[in-house]
Amino acid sequence: MEIEEAIERRKSRRSFKRTALTENQLSQLIWSAGKAPSAGATYPLELYVVIGKECAGDIDAGVYHTKGYSELELHKEGDLREELAVACLRQMFIADAPVSFVITAEYERTTRRYGERGIRYVHIEVGHVSQNIYLQCEALGLATVAIGAFYDDEVAKVLSLPEEHKPIYVMPVGKYAQ
Ligand SMILES: Cc1cc2nc3c(=O)[nH]c(=O)nc-3n(C[C@H](O)[C@H](O)[C@H](O)COP(=O)(O)O)c2cc1C
Repeated sequence: MEIEEAIERRKSRRSFKRTALTENQLSQLIWSAGKAPSAGATYPLELYVVIGKECAGDIDAGVYHTKGYSELELHKEGDLREELAVACLRQMFIADAPVSFVITAEYERTTRRYGERGIRYVHIEVGHVSQNIYLQCEALGLATVAIGAFYDDEVAKVLSLPEEHKPIYVMPVGKYAQ
């Protein structure tokens, strides 16, 4: 797909088929997330993936931390999609999506260099990552929506995030249920 076509077609989609993603689709999405620019190359973001049962090739259900935007490290076991949806103000369509990305930030990495302004940079950066995921979904024929409405503490608890990794955006991904 041409980049213009992906930009033109991109939109937020909120109904998902309960169909698994392939491992190739998942790694392509993670790759695209890692290709965003970073203020002063401080790389404050950490990407987590919430994967449901039988939802991504042979990968077990759980919360995974992405290392170097390529490897998946199991962070927490279990299918936590329902709990994630509840933590996102009961936007229950999130529980239908086979996979959700949770973009988190360790502000210190950027504020250490830029002070208060670093907070702005971190938020801008999350937008870049999110847009890459939106466009990559379009190119793969997948649906997604950026979710900013959630209880921070609840999402952190569901994923058992380390204290310094603050959740900023949630992006459920799956096949579109028309
Ligand atoms: C910062 C931000 C937060 C958002 N949070 C939510 C959300 O919690 N739930 C949701 O369904 N959509 C959310 N959206 C998606 C917007 O509703 C959507 O982008 C908007 O309606 C425009 O539609 P489009 O993306 O199809 O162009 C959010 C978008 C942004 C930029």
